[in-house]
Amino acid sequence: MTIRAVVRGVGHYLPERVVPNSEFEATIDTSDEWIRSRSGIERRHFAAEGQTTSDLAIRAAQAALADAGMSADQLDAIVVATSTPDFTFPSVATMVQAGLGTTSGFAYDVQAVCAGFVFALANANGLILSGQARRVLVIGAETFSRIMDWTDRGTCVLFGDGAGALVLEAEEGAGTSDDRGILSVDLHSDGRYRDLLYVDGGVSSNGQAGYLRMQGNAVFKHAVQKLAETAHTALEKAGVSAGDVAWIVPHQANLRIISATAERMQVSMDRVVVTVQDHGNTSAASIPLALSVGKARGQIKTGDLIVTEAIGGGLAWGAVVLRW
Ligand SMILES: CC(C)(COP(=O)(O)OP(=O)(O)OC[C@H]1O[C@@H](n2cnc3c(N)ncnc32)[C@H](O)[C@@H]1OP(=O)(O)O)[C@@H](O)C(=O)NCCC(=O)NCCS
Repeated sequence: MTIRAVVRGVGHYLPERVVPNSEFEATIDTSDEWIRSRSGIERRHFAAEGQTTSDLAIRAAQAALADAGMSADQLDAIVVATSTPDFTFPSVATMVQAGLGTTSGFAYDVQAVCAGFVFALANANGLILSGQARRVLVIGAETFSRIMDWTDRGTCVLFGDGAGALVLEAEEGAGTSDDRGILSVDLHSDGRYRDLLYVDGGVSSNGQAGYLRMQGNAVFKHAVQKLAETAHTALEKAGVSAGDVAWIVPHQANLRIISATAERMQVSMDRVVVTVQDHGNTSAASIPLALSVGKARGQIKTGDLIVTEAIGGGLAWGAVVLRW
């Protein structure tokens, strides 16, 4: 008998305001054509004034709990992946706990930037496999619009706001790759690449929230190589091959990264869930958003073998293989 962390429910929330590429043409030297052709992004959502990361996270959590047919009181843990918390502390996760009206279990944040959801999923899997929790709500939620330098055309057109959530529950499996649930995890980081993607502010440095800074071209090259490698390793650990994969659900940063990674994995694009055109890069929220949208579109079905992969600031990157 092997314990598996099985997906019981999924949900997402996107703020109402949709910003098409053309809106940037009025304020910076860019064009809809440049943004589409270089990134695949057509539009993104931005949170309203006063709307915080925890507000988005709570809405996504409610949708995932409804999908799971579960109440918040049944949860043992809430793990939120975010780099844009409402406050330095308390954690977004404890605010979600309160927002859901429960005091059951424990709640905390993890921070691995755009790889945050993969790390949070790995963490939740660890809680379940070690017996510390049976039901875990895992959320990715971000308001990256709050850390954009609106004069930097190389970054401000790429990011968006949103949240997605999964409910995981312990279930007994046979210990084979036919089991439902998380089958393998592969995580990495390399702090030498700090300067490629970072925010130039923080509590113990300059006391400010700061703005996102990125060497886009260098990040691009690391992404394509490292994502294909980690996905391959995760598939190997799960005892499956790329040919068995029903869906790649990648971090949605750039369509060119997504397609180059799929090509390296020898998986065709009709087996990749793509939402970047509608959401932009929502950092830790992008994978659960894509899982939720992929299910709503009828792409993802029970029993499908899925590989998720992401890379972000740190650099930190990794992949999770799961059977839906
Ligand atoms: C940012 C990114 C889209 C830029 O595409 P690119 O093809 O690498 O383009 P470059 O950075 O080489 O820039 C090419 C030119 O476009 C310009 N440019 C940058 N942003 C622009 C914009 N929004 N509109 C118009 N031109 C722009 C640059 O200034 C540069 O001009 P120059 O040649 O005169 O200096 C791409 O590098 C990328 O997506 N990188 C990964 C980013 C990412 O996903 N990060 C998050 C990972 S979690």
